[in-house]
Amino acid sequence: KLIYVLNGPNLNLLGKRQPEIYGHETLADVEHKMRARAAQLDLEIEFFQSNFEGALVEKVHEVRDKAAGIIINPAALSHTSVAILDALNTFESPVIEVHISNIHKREAFRHHSWVSARAEGVIAGMGTLGYMLALDYFAS
Ligand code: DQA
Repeated sequence: KLIYVLNGPNLNLLGKRQPEIYGHETLADVEHKMRARAAQLDLEIEFFQSNFEGALVEKVHEVRDKAAGIIINPAALSHTSVAILDALNTFESPVIEVHISNIHKREAFRHHSWVSARAEGVIAGMGTLGYMLALDYFAS
């Protein structure tokens, strides 16, 4: 099973970016942990991060026919992007949305995510463990 892990804007700075909110682990650390777990679960994973909305839309198009699932943290684009929602609506396999922080505990503008209307599941506030739990979902 091939699962794509997509990360949106500013997540390339994970570990350096507001560590009091997002923690000290880098995105490379998360990728490393996920690869180890995916191997145990017999899943194949591909990683992609972009700071550009259109690049994420085009990545969804590219993987539409190959991915058995998508784990996506759309970051700030969660709260603004109908384009990413529409792209995910062209994809027929499950989507799990992950947020490192609990978006519902934060500013009101973070409480709504367009992507949630498409996601089978949403994990928020469990730190980077959320990505691992999303992998377990695809293994189960
Ligand atoms: C985030 C939450 C978003 O509100 C924020 O814009 C991010 C990261 C999270 O993982 O907690 O960039 O998606």
